[in-house]
Order: sequence, then structure tokens, then C-alpha cells
Amino acid sequence: MNSVEVDITVNLRGLKIKNPLMLASGILGVSAELIMKALEAGAGAVVTKSISLKPREGYRNPTIVAVECGYINAIGLANQGARAFLKELKRIKEQSTPIVVSLFAENEEEFAKLAQIFEHSHVKAYELNLSCPHVKGVGLEVGHDPKLVKKIVKRVKEVSKKPVYVKLSPNLPNIVEVAVAAEKAGADAITATNTIRAMAIDVDAAKPILSNKVGGLSGKALKPISLRCVYEIFEYVKIPLIGSGGIATWRDAVEYLLAGASALQIGSAIAYEGLEVFKKISEGLTSYLKARGYKSVGEIVGLAHKP
Ligand SMILES: Cc1cc2nc3c(=O)[nH]c(=O)nc-3n(C[C@H](O)[C@H](O)[C@H](O)COP(=O)(O)O)c2cc1C
Repeated sequence: MNSVEVDITVNLRGLKIKNPLMLASGILGVSAELIMKALEAGAGAVVTKSISLKPREGYRNPTIVAVECGYINAIGLANQGARAFLKELKRIKEQSTPIVVSLFAENEEEFAKLAQIFEHSHVKAYELNLSCPHVKGVGLEVGHDPKLVKKIVKRVKEVSKKPVYVKLSPNLPNIVEVAVAAEKAGADAITATNTIRAMAIDVDAAKPILSNKVGGLSGKALKPISLRCVYEIFEYVKIPLIGSGGIATWRDAVEYLLAGASALQIGSAIAYEGLEVFKKISEGLTSYLKARGYKSVGEIVGLAHKP
């Protein structure tokens, strides 16, 4: 009954989804079966794990560790490569399936090649993961350079008719500057944020736990950081924002919407809440909206900015 009275559909520049909740990249979006499972559980859309032109093995174990307030992972962007992944996605016959493919590369030409591989498939949009290390900038991510970000987005928009979302890292010294650059280059939405650099040390072995030593922190501890990023970016860009970082309850979801996100991604919470988290959050969100007399979820986007 709630869902009839309150409209929680979201239109992300051409990708219309039944609710604002998306499966975050790298979490289950690895096979046709798991993608369908997340959608059946109530996700509005699924972002696949990040895909590169060539297959990548990733780092050796351990690649993920649970900490007090989340997880630190360093998977090393392991994936089977774009052509093999396209074949996997083609196993999903329903053309309207809301799939966003996450792409990662080192430069604009590689990103364009990747988009061209998926361009004639039923994939609905691309999310560019700009957290990949930048070959020319030691220790820096591609997303650290606003000029490179512009080049990448422009080039992908030139070769693609699909919406292009840009996922940014909270490690950036000025995330707003990069978000503005992406918008100017034609991005259709900004996903904020990816994980933040972190580490854990085994006191018995006296060594870092992850094989890569440093990884990305996700989950509860990331929430206030990503939420602040969404809030700041909202003040400077007009394209929709997609919140990602520590969303586990409908209250977290509402916080992000009030900060300015139009849609939300859920990752780590699935590890302890299971896929039911999608239904739980969309029901809680619908009740919140209904109790306050809102007719649609869009009405609360960015409300926390009002004086
Ligand atoms: C195990 C794991 C793998 C991930 N892989 C990717 C990835 O391939 N590409 C990407 O853009 N983000 C990746 N992420 C980041 C998530 O998509 C998400 O942005 C981040 O975890 C914050 O959301 P959360 O706190 O709900 O997990 C990964 C996160 C985890 C925990």
C-alpha cells in the first residue's frame, strides 16, 4: 500500500529504476545469477564489479579483513576482462534488466575501448571507476587529475549513447573540483564515494594483514565521510548524485538523500544483513516519506541544504 502512494522511482538520466537502491560495484555483481539474485531481492539496479580491457588476477590472499567498523579490501580489481564479461552478461536474456557496468582503465582511449565493447549490449549505463592507479602519477589515482577526468568522460561520451556515471574516491584532496570537471565534460551522474585508503596490522605476526598492505575501507566508518562528500558536491553540481559508503539502514539512506543523493548504493551491509537489506531499506524509506506527507522520494533530495 505504501509503495502505491509514494513514488520511490528514480530517473538517473535515462536509467529509470524502481527504487533508489543499487547494488554497489564489486559486491556480488560478478555473474548473471548473482546479478539476478540482487534484483529479485529488491535492488533497483545492479552495478557490476569493475571490468578492464584485459583479464586481471588481482592480489593474492588475504584480500579482505573485517575491522571494528567495516571492511578493508584490496582485491586488486580482479576480473575476467571485458569480452568474457560481456559474454557472461549476455546470459541475461531480459533486455530491460537494469545493469550498470563499472569500467576501469588508465587513460581515455582504454575507457573508450571498454565502452565500445558494451555499447551494443543491453547494459543500461556505465560507471567509470576512477580509483585505478594513474601510471604517470606515483601513488595517485586516475581521479586525482581533473584534466584527465575531463578527457576520460569526454571520450567515453563521444563513443557512447548510454548514461555515464563517474565514481569518485574520498581520497581526493578536493572531490568537488573533480566532480565539477566530470560534470563539465558531460557526465550524467557522480557516484560518491569509493572506499578510503586504510590498513590493519596483525600484532602477532607484526605485519600488515592484507597482502597489498593497504586497502580500501568500506562500511560504517566510511559513512560520515562519503556523506560529507555528497553534501559538498551537491552545492556545486546539477547532475544527480549517487551516494555510496556505509548505507545499511533506511536512516542511512534518508541521510544521504537529504544530503543531496538521488540514488544510493549498498555494498558492505550485504555481508551482515544479507540481500534482504534492499527490501528493508525501501520499506523503511517509504514509511518515512509517507509519515511526512511526501509524494515522491525526489522531494527530499538535498533538503538538508535549506537554511
Ligand atoms: C570487497 C569489495 C570489492 C569492491 N570492488 C569494487 C570495484 O570493483 N569497483 C568499485 O568501483 N568499487 C568497488 N568496491 C567499493 C564499493 O562499490 C563501495 O563503493 C564501497 O564499498 C562503499 O560502500 P559500502 O560501505 O556500502 O560497502 C568494493 C568494495 C568491497 C567491500
